[in-house]
Formats: sequence, structure tokens, C-alpha cells
Amino acid sequence: MSRVFSGIQPTGNLHLGNYLGAIRNWVTMQDAHECIYCVVDLHAITVAQDPATLRQGIREMTAALLASGIDPERSILFPQSRVRVHAELAWVLMCTARVGWLNRMTQFKEKSGKDREGASVGLYTYPVLQAADILAYKATHVPVGDDQKQHLELARDIAAKFNTDMGVELFPLPEPVIQGPATRVMSLRDGSAKMSKSDPVDAARINMTDDADTIAQKIKRAKTDADALPSEVAGLAGRPEAANLVGMMAALTDRSADAVLQDFGGQGFGRFKPALADAMVTVLAPISARFNALRGDHAAIDAVLERGAERARAIAEPVLAEVHRAVGFTG
Ligand code: TYM
Repeated sequence: MSRVFSGIQPTGNLHLGNYLGAIRNWVTMQDAHECIYCVVDLHAITVAQDPATLRQGIREMTAALLASGIDPERSILFPQSRVRVHAELAWVLMCTARVGWLNRMTQFKEKSGKDREGASVGLYTYPVLQAADILAYKATHVPVGDDQKQHLELARDIAAKFNTDMGVELFPLPEPVIQGPATRVMSLRDGSAKMSKSDPVDAARINMTDDADTIAQKIKRAKTDADALPSEVAGLAGRPEAANLVGMMAALTDRSADAVLQDFGGQGFGRFKPALADAMVTVLAPISARFNALRGDHAAIDAVLERGAERARAIAEPVLAEVHRAVGFTG
């Protein structure tokens, strides 16, 4: 039996990188799997958050996920903090994970930057909480963007070590699902930096709520080089900005990058960019219309989250009870 789990932080807007890298796969996986999707507010507070902004961010991210096609009847959609198992299991798994393993996590190094001593302990142990999220549901598949690969390898290592240490077969080893032509969407301003919610330059990302004019402007100003597009993917080597835009086009129009280049090879960005902006608007306009209709309905959003948390607890609590037995807390 396969069970899907994934999470997203409720900080900032849902952007095109989240959507093409992960959320689109979340939506399609609902057809064939039991899916559990989590708004990870416990992860959000690993860096400073204003409480009112966080409260609003949780609702807005929920509305954005619903608008993107997450169906709360078929899937479980809930906020992490409402299911205490996440934090409790994270403690047990912190006693399984090794300091050396966490020291290798590149995202902590990036996020803590030069002030590592001043980073929160939560930011350092963040990947263990992420492992607890997945393992609390004995999830087998985890759809994510490429940047989460290392955290998922860690989750597998933690699951395997727990099973071995306790002499049990409690946790399945979760498989990352990193698929599609845009598993790593880059900034519009710098082809070597990831498109990110935390980039202070709004023009570097496409927000799911951007209107058609804003999208057209951002794509028009996106960094490129002076050459025409090649006819094959091999010709994109060493051209990160061009590769990024072609990858976006491929993902948005559901075809391979090679198929995109068959159409646009030999053409300049003056022709390609308007076509890309059109493809983006076609995909994003209905999502942003649904988002705008939903975002003010706090009662409906809160009801989805409350019901989701209840269903999540019903799965996670028995798993924690098994963990307590395996560890020796209970008989
Ligand atoms: P977060 O909130 O940073 O991102 C949510 C999802 O979007 C993907 N993503 C991208 N994909 C392609 N290109 C990009 N530029 C891009 N930016 C973000 C991420 O890979 C992710 O899939 N730690 C996680 C949240 C989390 C989680 C979990 C995920 C907490 N617990 C358990 C899976 C399982 C995070 O911060 O994602």
C-alpha cells in the first residue's frame, strides 16, 4: 500500500518553483494514492516569524493549495502544529539521528549563512522534524523539488537506523518523488540561484497570484543571454538562464524540453518570452482566480484544516504508540 506525504512552509507566497517542482505532482498523485499534505508551521518558526503574519500565512497557503487542486475530500490537508505527534516523534528521532549527519546538511549551511552561532537550534534540527513528518504516517512516497533530496536521504537513514537499533520493521524507507522537467526552477534574475519565497527581489520569482501584466513584465525582464535558442537540449549546456526558461515552458505545456526546442530552436528570446508568458498565464490565471475567491473565507479554510488535523491524528497517533513500545516507554 502506498501512502504519500509532503509539506510546504506557510511563509510568503506560493511561487512557480513550488508549483512546478512539487505541488503539481501533489495534485496528480491524489488520483492513485492516499495523500497527506501538511502546512509546516513548526518548520516556519525555525527563523523569526511575526505571529499575525504566520497566522495569515497558514490560511493563505492552505487557500493556495486548494486553488491549485488539492482536494480536501480525497486528501488530508492540515497544519503541522495541530498534530502533536510531529513534535513528539521528532524528539525520539533526534536521539536516533547523529550529529555528523546533520553537520552535512547543506540547507542549514545556506540558511544559517555567516551567523551559524546565532541560528536557532530548531534550524539545525529541522531535517529531523521533516523525517518525523514523513515517518509519523509511515509514508512510502514523498513528492518534492530537487532541493529536498538531501533531507529525504536523511529521513531514510533515520528510518533505517531506528528499525535496526530497536530490532523492528516499523518504518518503511520513504522514496523521494522528484519528477518533471522543472524539479529545480531558478531565479529569473540569476540562473544559478533557486527561485525562492525568501528572495527579497520580487521580480526574481513568479508568484501564483501575479496577474497577466506582472507575469509578462517579469518574463520580459528575465535575465538571458544574447544567443538564439538551440534546437536540442545539449545546446543549453552552460546557459543556465536559457535552460531555466525552456524547462518552465516544458513543464507548463506538458512536453519535454526537446519538444519545446523543436518549436523554438533558432529563435531569439524576443519570440520565446511572450510565448512563455502566455503559457504561464494559461496555467496560473485559473489558480489565482480560485485563490482570490477562497482566501477571504476564513471559516471554510479553518474547517478544512480542522478536519484534516483530525484525520491526520487518527493515522499518526497509533504510529507513535508503536514507537513508544519499540523504544520501551510502554509494555
Ligand atoms: P518549501 O516550503 O521550501 O518548498 C515546498 C516544496 O516546493 C519545492 N520547491 C521547489 N521546487 C522546484 N524549484 C524551486 N525553485 C523550488 N522551491 C521550492 C520544495 O522542494 C518543496 O517540495 N522542508 C520542506 C517542507 C517539508 C517537507 C516535509 C517536505 C517539511 N516537512 C516532509 C516533504 C516531506 C520545505 O521547506 O519546503
